[in-house]
Amino acid sequence: MVKVTFIEHDGTETTVEAAEGDSVMSAAIANGIDGIVAECGGSMMCATCHCYVDDAWADRTGPRKEGEDDMLESAASEVKETSRLSCQIKLTADLDGLVVHLPEEQV
Ligand code: FES
Repeated sequence: MVKVTFIEHDGTETTVEAAEGDSVMSAAIANGIDGIVAECGGSMMCATCHCYVDDAWADRTGPRKEGEDDMLESAASEVKETSRLSCQIKLTADLDGLVVHLPEEQV
């Protein structure tokens, strides 16, 4: 299992466990994290799974996938250097302990 900590815009921190191979988005949805909406269910057709990867983890989650930049243009909150679509970050053992911050709004 891989631990992921979500820090919501109001500072609420929740740590969840997910299986390797799950996405950060699905870990959030499975655990009722309010700050992730994921309207399209992970097919990169919305930007409501927007998250900011914590600076300490940005190297390990790697660069945005093809198409993420375009989709992030429709994000409801500010897009930063560390912005990712959480459905495009697959959890691996290397990401155990990952910390992501959630934007103020998703829609
Ligand atoms: S869930 Fe829609 S782009 Fe990630």
